[in-house]
Amino acid sequence: MTAIYIGVMTGTSMDGVDIVAASFDPLQLHATLTLAFDPDLRNELMALTLPDDNEIDRMGKADVALAKMIGEGINTLIEQHQLDRSQIKAIGSHGQTIRHRPEHGFTLQIGDPNIITEITQIPVVSDFRRRDMAAGGQGAPLVPAFHQALFQHESIHRVILNLGGIANVSLLPAGAPEQVSGFDTGPANILMDAWCHRYTGQPYDENGNWAAYGQPIRSLLERLQAHDFFAKEPPKSTGREDFNLDWLDDQIMDWRNDELAYDELEDTPENVQATLLKLTTRAIKKAIYRSGMETGEVYVCGGGAYNSQLLEQLRWRLRKHQWTVQSTADLGLSPTWVEATAFAWLAMRFVEHLSGNLPAVTGADGYRILGSITAV
Ligand SMILES: Nc1ncnc2c1ncn2[C@@H]1O[C@H](COP(=O)(O)OP(=O)(O)O)[C@@H](O)[C@H]1O
Ligand SMILES: [Mg+2]
Repeated sequence: MTAIYIGVMTGTSMDGVDIVAASFDPLQLHATLTLAFDPDLRNELMALTLPDDNEIDRMGKADVALAKMIGEGINTLIEQHQLDRSQIKAIGSHGQTIRHRPEHGFTLQIGDPNIITEITQIPVVSDFRRRDMAAGGQGAPLVPAFHQALFQHESIHRVILNLGGIANVSLLPAGAPEQVSGFDTGPANILMDAWCHRYTGQPYDENGNWAAYGQPIRSLLERLQAHDFFAKEPPKSTGREDFNLDWLDDQIMDWRNDELAYDELEDTPENVQATLLKLTTRAIKKAIYRSGMETGEVYVCGGGAYNSQLLEQLRWRLRKHQWTVQSTADLGLSPTWVEATAFAWLAMRFVEHLSGNLPAVTGADGYRILGSITAV
C-alpha cells in the first residue's frame, strides 16, 4: 500500500492554510484543500509577528486555535476524499511562523501538533526549522531540497522561484545536485498585499493589475533597496520582522523628507505599488544573474505565480540571457500546492530517517533530519 503523507502550510502571506495529501515516487496528489482564516485569528497571528503586550498568553491561545483549525481541516479533507486513514503515515505541519530570528538562533512556528494528533489520530511531524538552526543554519528556506528532488534536470539549468509572502529561489544547476543553492531574495507579496489592502480594500493586487497602472519611483526604489537584507550574502532568510508596513511607511516618510530625492514621480499609491513590484523582481534577477548559470528555465510557484504583471516584468528583466519564465504547473505541480507538498515530503523524509535540509542553502553544519513527531 502506497504511503500517503499530508502536508500543511501557512506562509508569511497568511492568506489561508493549504493542505495536501500526497504520495511520492512518483509524486501524486490525492486531495487538496485551502482553509480560510477566521479574521480574528488572522489578525492575532499577524499581530504576534511583531513585539507587543502579553505575548506569551496570546501566543498560547493562538497556538491552540490554529491547531484546532488545522486538525479539523485535515479531517474534512480525509472525509471529503474518503482517504484511508491507515494509509496516511504522518502529517507534516509547518505551523505559522510568528517570529524568525536567525541572527539570534531562534525561529518560532505555532499550531500545537499534540492537538492536531488528538483530532486526527495521525502522527504529526512539526518544528522543522529549529534542528537546522541548532546546527548553525538559517532554518530557511527548507523547500529547496524538495525542489531539487522533484525538479532538477540533467542538462538544463533551472530555478524554482517561490513567490509567497517572501520570495525564495532554489538554484538547480543542470545535473549537479551537489551544487544546489537557494535563499530568500526579499519580500514578494507581504508588502504589496498590505499596501494594496490599505488603498483598495482588496487582500491582494489581482494579477498585478493595479501595479500595472503605476510607474516605479526610482529614488524610492533605491531607498528600499538600501535595506541591509539585500546586501547580505547568502545563506540568508527573512520575514515580517524585516519587511512590514511600518518599515515601508518610515521609508516613504524619509524619502519625502529627503531634499536630494530627485524623482519627478509622485508617490501615488499605484506608483508605490509598482515600486514594490520592481523591488521584488530586481532582487530575483540579481539572484539569477549571480548564480553562475548562463541561461535556463525559471519555474514559479506560490500565489505570486498568478501575478501576471510580475511574471511579465520578470521575463522582460531576464530577457538578456534568454531565461524562460513559466509556472510549476508546466512541470506537473500546480503553483498553489508546491509548498504544502514540500512539507508532506519533509514528513516522509523524517519518517524514513532521511535529511531534509541542504547545508549549502541554510548554512547548517551538515545534513539533518528535521522535525519532531507526536505518537498516536
Ligand atoms: N491572482 C493573483 N494575482 C496576484 N497575486 C495573487 C493571486 N493569487 C494569489 N496571489 C498572491 O499570493 C499570495 C499567497 O501566496 P502563498 O504562496 O500562499 O504565500 P504564503 O506561502 O506566504 O502563504 C497572496 O497573498 C497574494 O499576494
Ligand atoms: Mg499561503
